[in-house]
Amino acid sequence: MCGIIGYVGKSKAVPYLIRGLEHLEYRGYDSSGIAVTENGQVITVKTSGRIQDLKNKLTGIELTAKCGIGHTRWATHGEPDDINSHPHSSMSGLFTVVHNGIIENYLPVKKELMSEGFTFKSSTDTEVIANLLEKYYEGDVVHTINKCRRILEGSYALCIICRDFPDTVYGVRKGSPLHCAESSSGRLFSSDTIALLPYTKSIYTLDEGETAVMDSREISFFDTNSNRISKSADRLDLPERSADKGDFPHFMLKEIFEQPQVLKRTLDSLIKEDELFPELSELKKSFFALQKICFVGCGSAYHAGLAGKILTEKIGNITCTAETASEFRYGNTPLDSKTLCIFISQSGETADTLAALLKAKEKKARTLSVINVRGSSIAGESDFVIYTEAGPEIAVATTKAYTAQLISLYLFALCFAHERWQIKRSERDRLLSELRLLPAKVQRIIDSRDKAELFSSLFDGRREGWFIGRGSDYAAAMEGSLKIKEISYINTGAYPAGELKHGTISLLERGTPVVALCCEERLFTKTFANIREVKARGASVLILACEKSAEALTDEENVLFLPDTADEFACLLQAVALQLLSYYTAVKRGCDIDKPKNLAKSVTVE
Ligand code: G6P
Repeated sequence: MCGIIGYVGKSKAVPYLIRGLEHLEYRGYDSSGIAVTENGQVITVKTSGRIQDLKNKLTGIELTAKCGIGHTRWATHGEPDDINSHPHSSMSGLFTVVHNGIIENYLPVKKELMSEGFTFKSSTDTEVIANLLEKYYEGDVVHTINKCRRILEGSYALCIICRDFPDTVYGVRKGSPLHCAESSSGRLFSSDTIALLPYTKSIYTLDEGETAVMDSREISFFDTNSNRISKSADRLDLPERSADKGDFPHFMLKEIFEQPQVLKRTLDSLIKEDELFPELSELKKSFFALQKICFVGCGSAYHAGLAGKILTEKIGNITCTAETASEFRYGNTPLDSKTLCIFISQSGETADTLAALLKAKEKKARTLSVINVRGSSIAGESDFVIYTEAGPEIAVATTKAYTAQLISLYLFALCFAHERWQIKRSERDRLLSELRLLPAKVQRIIDSRDKAELFSSLFDGRREGWFIGRGSDYAAAMEGSLKIKEISYINTGAYPAGELKHGTISLLERGTPVVALCCEERLFTKTFANIREVKARGASVLILACEKSAEALTDEENVLFLPDTADEFACLLQAVALQLLSYYTAVKRGCDIDKPKNLAKSVTVE
């Protein structure tokens, strides 16, 4: 994972590097560092902890260098301490590198380098790159990079400085993204365009194996044989992804509150004059020929896919699967031109989802992505794209991007089922009207957030808990459980309510918190029976149900009622209530809500 940045210009490099790292902090935040060339010497300052800790460490150090590189880390190899923080230098200090990705053959390469006398200070895979560069260096850095490229296996985006060329930064990529840009403020490399857009909208995206060289005069590009190539910049007319939490104590709460507008905006953008997905007209022509739909994503995006599968299968009458991208990419799901694979990703950069997409393309499946970030890698590789209109999402635990994915997939299911003649126009319109009511219903849940706050006492002093449900309630349980785990560090599990008695129920103790979801009307009595079973064994149960079930639940103490909606869409309302429940649980525990430990917003390693 990690975010990397490089700067060459007329101004002092450090403020540019720090600003860039702040933009990239969503990619990892367990340590950070910079290296600059100052009077012919490379000076490295790095530390474990947040970028604020790096800033504190830099206070009082006067660095006038106009060229440098920076890194914000999500540890893969080696614990996140000061030594393993990037940048890493080669044995003699000739080369210094920052790295996003994983060098899969670092151990044999390290062994060989050690047998040749190279020494290492860290347990990272990255230090191998620095020493390998030093080993092969004969005066031409681009040549050296290409020699090393042939040896290194895995994925990487690198920014490199060499002591012999103090005003130059080199960038190369394989598998991990790397962009660069030129502006009146200077030249910059970045893992993500977000750190470049404040300076220019003209952005170069490096292709696999390409090297870019940035000095005080220009940016030049080289192919894998070290031949100079010309390259043109893409104009990215994207809004700056600014991050301001206004009066909210946390981005997560702000983003929960934004959901009514986000859902409405997303629906409005996907429906034009009563036509659903006008931009997918080519894809729609293939609906009759399709035999299977695979929903693929990671984390919450996978849970959105699960809900998408359940609804599409139900109303579209087609075989659907939902898989995590990390399993799908190495699995054996049969794929062909009669399969549609739907890839779901907020960032559009998740490494496993991208790899799963490339596999589907290789197998000639049709590909559609549901993406929040325009211009992202997954959007660029997909045959068709549905953009969610969540805007920038800063909190690591996704809220508005997830519900925007859900509403997009609901709409897709309606469109698919109608175009394939599985539901009549009148049924499509009925469900569509119901869908259009969801933003206002979400607003009602937000307005009555004091109830979620109150019920968060369920987890007081608890280290574990369960979420149970059937059908789409189970998909909601999966996401609710993940939300609690992500930000409160409570070990919760999600189970199909009917599965409990096949093992898990043996874990039940007096007071074990169980959140039972029972919004699916046709399954209500079944889940209700499972609630009785856990209660009989001492569980503390919180029920999430729709208002229409109030009568059946009059004897229940802890019920969080949600506005009535079609069974098909209840998962979305439950998600919002569970986001609030998780939020208040984590606040009470004093957790770092927006940046939970060990996580990152965008996971760019497998
Ligand atoms: C990380 C985040 C999750 C997110 C997942 C997929 O693990 O912490 O919140 O659901 O990545 O991210 P994507 O950008 O592909 O939706």
